[in-house]
Amino acid sequence: MPKHPLIAGNWKMHGLREAIPEALAMDRAARDSRASVAIFPPSTLLYALSEALQSRSEPSPVRLGGQDCHKDAQGAFTGDLSAEMLKDAGADMVILGHSERRHGHKEACESVAAKTLAALRAGLEPIICIGETLDQRQEGLTHAVLSKQLRDSLPLALEGQTFHVAYEPVWAIGTGHVPTDDQVVDAMLLIQKHLAQRFHNQVVPHTLYGGSVKPDNARHLLSLEGVDGLLVGGASLKAEDFNRIIAAAD
Ligand code: G3H
Repeated sequence: MPKHPLIAGNWKMHGLREAIPEALAMDRAARDSRASVAIFPPSTLLYALSEALQSRSEPSPVRLGGQDCHKDAQGAFTGDLSAEMLKDAGADMVILGHSERRHGHKEACESVAAKTLAALRAGLEPIICIGETLDQRQEGLTHAVLSKQLRDSLPLALEGQTFHVAYEPVWAIGTGHVPTDDQVVDAMLLIQKHLAQRFHNQVVPHTLYGGSVKPDNARHLLSLEGVDGLLVGGASLKAEDFNRIIAAAD
């Protein structure tokens, strides 16, 4: 486990203003932890959360991020948000290429790469997600799929920049099915090898695991080779659960 594992909570399309106290409770846990903690709320909560977290007597260590962004800075794109808008609302990170966007919104790797450039343009630190479906794994295509996603979703402009890659097997997301230790380590090492060959960054990217992370398996997952942090979905919504995951990093 690295000195400061990244524990990221992706709230997906969950959370009204009444969830703000949950984030404040997560802030209390983050202050006592050696982990870096980031919350990715729905965009409607970004500004309110940023204000709530930063108006405390000691500014919060919790970072905020968006869950997606458009590749352009502005324009006639109804319903979309630019990286600059996320930044303006208080984000300094953004999740890109989540499988719920790759599959649910037919987002291609090339689009993820363009959005990554947008994130860098706006000064947002991207977490780029990759992962195979169950069919792809059963057909023995995992390495080919992950390698292609890495090659085509990560632009060369990431050289010298701070960014992170999350391995999220699609079949592990929200299902309660966690890959075996060997499967996780195999994917993490593939990612780390790709990053080492392709980028020569001073800040070594965190490689995160995501998919059915819970308070009870977080410590074990963080102990696996190559796992520098966790991208947590369902278990990041309640401070009761997420704070136990943050504590697992200590
Ligand atoms: O971004 C988070 C992942 O999709 C994992 O979601 O923890 O609910 O399985 P989950």
